[in-house]
Amino acid sequence: MTALIIDGRKLAEQSNLRTKADAESFTKETKRPPSLVMLLIGADAGSKKYLNSKKKLANSLGLDASILEFDEDTTQKDIIDQIVLLNRDSEVDAILVQLPLPSKFDEEKILCKISPKKDVDGLHPELIGRLVLTGDDSCQLPCTPIGILKLVLEGRRQLGESSDLSGLRAVVLGRSNLVGKPSGILLHNHNATLTQCHSKTKDLDDIVKQADILVVATGKPNLITGDMLKPGAIVIDVGITYLDDGKIVGDCDFESCKLVAGAITPVPGGVGPMTMAMLMSNVLICANNNKDK
Ligand code: GUN
Repeated sequence: MTALIIDGRKLAEQSNLRTKADAESFTKETKRPPSLVMLLIGADAGSKKYLNSKKKLANSLGLDASILEFDEDTTQKDIIDQIVLLNRDSEVDAILVQLPLPSKFDEEKILCKISPKKDVDGLHPELIGRLVLTGDDSCQLPCTPIGILKLVLEGRRQLGESSDLSGLRAVVLGRSNLVGKPSGILLHNHNATLTQCHSKTKDLDDIVKQADILVVATGKPNLITGDMLKPGAIVIDVGITYLDDGKIVGDCDFESCKLVAGAITPVPGGVGPMTMAMLMSNVLICANNNKDK
């Protein structure tokens, strides 16, 4: 058996088309496009490149997107003052602080300052709290995790299965605030039985073998091989590593995993495009929050 490929680019394109149409309606109604301001702190080349591609995609969908750059000497207070100004600016709908921040900054304190209505990443404790306590998924949800959930549901659809994850074992490898933890919460809210694994987990192979749904977000290239999988599993590979020879690989060894999985995301072309697409649709949620204020 060869796994079905869950095409993140195609799914993202469909979402982006909806966002573009929603942006057009918003612009017609309010006489201005939905707006996103992204803060880049420090000189990390990868982050800068990533933000530029977010800006380019946003512009192509009819969103107004800008990047505010701060060098590493900027103080935490300067950043917070800037966020407070953006919170107050009625023409700014959505705010993003690109992570990771240089180590001298307190990430939690900074993210807490973004108004929950404008937090396009859905990382504010109020939003995460709402997600945990009520399962409310009508507000902005963290972009990669909601992208992962949609990829899981697409895999289920391709396999001819329902979107109800009742009775399925979901295993998430990784517990970061940005990806692992919220992905686990979302799968749990969709009735999967969740096991959240991390670097201190024992008997990882036994746990992985039981996974009907496996989300791998460890940053360890080729950690998961086909022989570790439960046959027919849906595998979502969040990892992306650039090897010295220029090859891009995920956390799963694609060639061996695709012989055992039921459906699998490729790297690249899986989670990455969905993260971007979910960011764009979150801008519209924020813009509508701002409009209804
Ligand atoms: N860095 C890598 N991915 C993300 C993301 O989704 N949001 C933010 N703010 N920073 C990131």
